[in-house]
Amino acid sequence: MNQPLAINFPNNIKLTVKREDLLHPHISGNKFRKLKYNILEAKKQGNEAVLTFGGAFSNHIAATAAAGKEYGFKTIGVIRGEELVDKIESNPTLRFARDCGMVFKFVSREDYRLKTEDIFIENLKAEFGDFYLVPEGGTNELAIKGCEEILTPQDVEFTHIACAVGTGGTISGIINSAGSNQRVIGFPALKGAGLLEDICKFAKMGNWELVEDYHFGGYGKINEELVTFINDFLDKTNIPLDPVYTGKMFFGVIDLVHKGYFPENSAILLIHTGGLQGIEGMNKELLRKKLPIIKIKK
Ligand SMILES: Cc1ncc(COP(=O)(O)O)c(C=O)c1O
Repeated sequence: MNQPLAINFPNNIKLTVKREDLLHPHISGNKFRKLKYNILEAKKQGNEAVLTFGGAFSNHIAATAAAGKEYGFKTIGVIRGEELVDKIESNPTLRFARDCGMVFKFVSREDYRLKTEDIFIENLKAEFGDFYLVPEGGTNELAIKGCEEILTPQDVEFTHIACAVGTGGTISGIINSAGSNQRVIGFPALKGAGLLEDICKFAKMGNWELVEDYHFGGYGKINEELVTFINDFLDKTNIPLDPVYTGKMFFGVIDLVHKGYFPENSAILLIHTGGLQGIEGMNKELLRKKLPIIKIKK
């Protein structure tokens, strides 16, 4: 669903939000798109379990666990950080995933780096039995195929499409389905991740760019300015944004609109990729640091 913003921007620029966050209450946004063909493939291969990887507040872990519960397969989450083993109850993402039936393996940060090595995967198979493997962040060929379904034929009316970037999978799908006269702009949520190469691996067209100025210091890093922006945006539009991905991207687009980055009469489509489950965990951090918290939509 596309929701035009009833806010006046300079240069007659119009902003519209693609509400992918409303696709499903728990498998929201790009997670739905990325998991769709992977789950169909797992079923086709006769796998009863899906194993994947993520950090303490991972949207992908939460969505995979929810999909397992809804579509009837076991889920195994390999989680970065051994110390989290005692923190499941106090971590909203892990508690949700566990309640959906996900089984965890907590590994040290060093071991987590080995997650694509054959020996690491073989050891996991020895421990958990056979499984269908979905990489960290859910990005693989089938995920890109799912993300190619984010844009619909009606979206040709937009001159620019903006999207938050983590591993680069979502933007790759969008690039592949965008028209050659449309510009796709990615806003990395992390600092210096070498994403250009990853995106080039999957993206079939060259009509895109990354704007690397809005990561707010790196992955999961936020400040008061961003919290205030997210809260004001909710007040003005009734659209909630997450602090790790969509909040930074929306902040970036609106800042660039005011700085004259986009030509007059641009029609910009902002992809809301979900991630709202992360707000609760982030608010705990903000409270600990005595900073203002993110309002939760009622
Ligand atoms: C809410 C949200 N938006 C955007 C992204 C970025 O997606 P990708 O990793 O495909 O670049 C993620 C991460 O997966 C996410 O959770």
